Amino acid sequence: MMLVLCGSAMKKRTAILISGRGSNMQSLVAAMGDPEFPAEPAVVISNRPEALGLSWADEQGIATVAIDHRQYANRMAFEARLHQAILDHGAELVCLAGFMRLLTGGFVDRWRDRLMNIHPSLLPAFPGLDTHQRALDAGALIVGCSVHFVRTEMDSGPILAQAAVAVLPGDTAETLAARVLEAEHQIYPLALRLVASGAVRIENETAIFDGPVEVPLPLVVPSLGRTR
Ligand code: GRF
Repeated sequence: MMLVLCGSAMKKRTAILISGRGSNMQSLVAAMGDPEFPAEPAVVISNRPEALGLSWADEQGIATVAIDHRQYANRMAFEARLHQAILDHGAELVCLAGFMRLLTGGFVDRWRDRLMNIHPSLLPAFPGLDTHQRALDAGALIVGCSVHFVRTEMDSGPILAQAAVAVLPGDTAETLAARVLEAEHQIYPLALRLVASGAVRIENETAIFDGPVEVPLPLVVPSLGRTR
């Protein structure tokens, strides 16, 4: 007897957690629209009921849940609800996409190596908020973004993908953020594809891909007279 699995039966169901406009969430959803992509959206969850990304996801026919953190007595209670909502929708992977709540060790450990985050810097440089201004202030010539598995310490964990972006003369935190965001939209789907396809393993807290990898030429940027 031949067992025929329909494509979606093999896809990893993925929860996407947002707090705002959700452009990274949109890039993930767009990538998951490809029948060959190894993941599918299970649910979009926001800690802010008014998040623009939540209504966008709803319009796409994706399940959405608002879990307003202000309604919970403490982080543990909020995270217990979050965890349950993810399970209720059968998700096996979780992507933080502009999710602006710190998660405690309890939640992070339960989703270890199944919980990803995107951060708009070349980690381990510039973790935390205000990354673009801090990079400009430091005189960085190359900035970028990172997708990583989440660990308890903020913006830490095995790095899954990074993209480099040149700082141009006259750049402000806003112009830089816009160019880095375009790169974010490329690397998050790439990282999710690798993780969902089972091509990633963690050794000594480093992500290793089984399979051929294209290595692009280095990005070389001379100091072009940025103002600081
Ligand atoms: C992105 O820059 C992401 O890296 C950071 O927050 C921003 C969210 O943007 N964590 P969006 O909601 O995905 O448009």
